[in-house]
Amino acid sequence: MKAILIPEFAPDPSTLQPSEVPTPPPKPDEYQISITHCAPQHADILHAQGKHQNNNAKKGWCHPPFILGYDFAGIVRSVPSSPSSATSRPKFSKGDRVFGIAIGAFAESICVKEAAIRRVPDGLSNETACAMAGQAVSYASVRHVADVQAGETVMVSGASGGLGSVCCMVAKALGAKVVALAGDAEKAEAMRRDMDVDLVVVMNDGRDWMAEVMAFTEQRGVDVFLDNIGMVNDAIRCLAYFGRIVIIGFAARKGVMEEVKMNKLLLKSITIMGYRFGESGRRHPALLERIWAGYLGMLQKGELKPMLYGDYRGLEDVGRALGDLAERRVYGKVVVKVADEEELSRL
Ligand SMILES: NC(=O)c1ccc[n+]([C@@H]2O[C@H](COP(=O)([O-])OP(=O)(O)OC[C@H]3O[C@@H](n4cnc5c(N)ncnc54)[C@H](OP(=O)(O)O)[C@@H]3O)[C@@H](O)[C@H]2O)c1
Repeated sequence: MKAILIPEFAPDPSTLQPSEVPTPPPKPDEYQISITHCAPQHADILHAQGKHQNNNAKKGWCHPPFILGYDFAGIVRSVPSSPSSATSRPKFSKGDRVFGIAIGAFAESICVKEAAIRRVPDGLSNETACAMAGQAVSYASVRHVADVQAGETVMVSGASGGLGSVCCMVAKALGAKVVALAGDAEKAEAMRRDMDVDLVVVMNDGRDWMAEVMAFTEQRGVDVFLDNIGMVNDAIRCLAYFGRIVIIGFAARKGVMEEVKMNKLLLKSITIMGYRFGESGRRHPALLERIWAGYLGMLQKGELKPMLYGDYRGLEDVGRALGDLAERRVYGKVVVKVADEEELSRL
């Protein structure tokens, strides 16, 4: 099969191209999935470069040689011959449309355990399921971690990105006022046009964006700050007393973490929470099911819609997609079409 193999860490993931690799045979408790779509994201860039906490040689995660990629949708090709003890019969059948999150998604085929996949809900395409697979993180951050209430003001950094755009949508659907932070004026214009948010402020156009946020909140500050890029010190400055910050990601930090003076938290009675989605599944499976039910419910009701950027076809386009993400050209979510859904379903 074709796959984006990382034989050694790649400083410039935009140059990555697919190569022929042996199609992995499924283990007795694994499904084999033919991939129709994959969705490159910021974490894939870090995985390829060897700069992510998942690059763990000891645990054997994302350590060369490995196949890159996280989010995918596809069609079940074969079911486990001996399902794990947790399930007596396989939940999915050959031909079912599924989506999932597992390392190795930039390939024509992937083998995964049942816990890594979910059924594509009726009425949603594989493309939509793939585009939204990774953003359950955003739903969980807004709904379960920040516990956003109707009427609160929520600010989102990296709001044009995959996670940020869905944070904005979920907060709006819960009845919050949303302030979106954009990297440049062009993206801000597109966000004002396409996103249902209450205020878009621009970081790098020389204007005092923080003063705009304070004016919007009548000098009170925002109740919740969802940080996708790593700007906690600025978040503290525009937060209301007793406000909450959720640390979701560090897209702007280039691996160098911020230092925060603890007295600032005390003085404003601020709560800072970190959230790593993977831990919900590993440590709180019942909560994870509630997260997916709530998130997919919102998608099916049309409260959340994917914001797709560009046109990427074939694994040959994965490198270009990663380059566009790294250069911050992307607005919304990138999805690469790997194979035709209908053609594969006929096989
Ligand atoms: N907590 C979790 O469980 C979890 C799970 C998955 C991913 N993450 C992390 O969450 C973060 C966001 O992920 P994502 O998939 O939403 O990424 P993304 O789609 O690439 O979006 C990131 C956004 O951040 C902004 N940004 C600001 N400075 C940037 C910089 N120097 N480089 C790149 N982007 C920059 C960009 O918007 P502007 O250009 O408009 O500023 C961009 O749209 C990443 O750090 C990722 O590793 C966390």
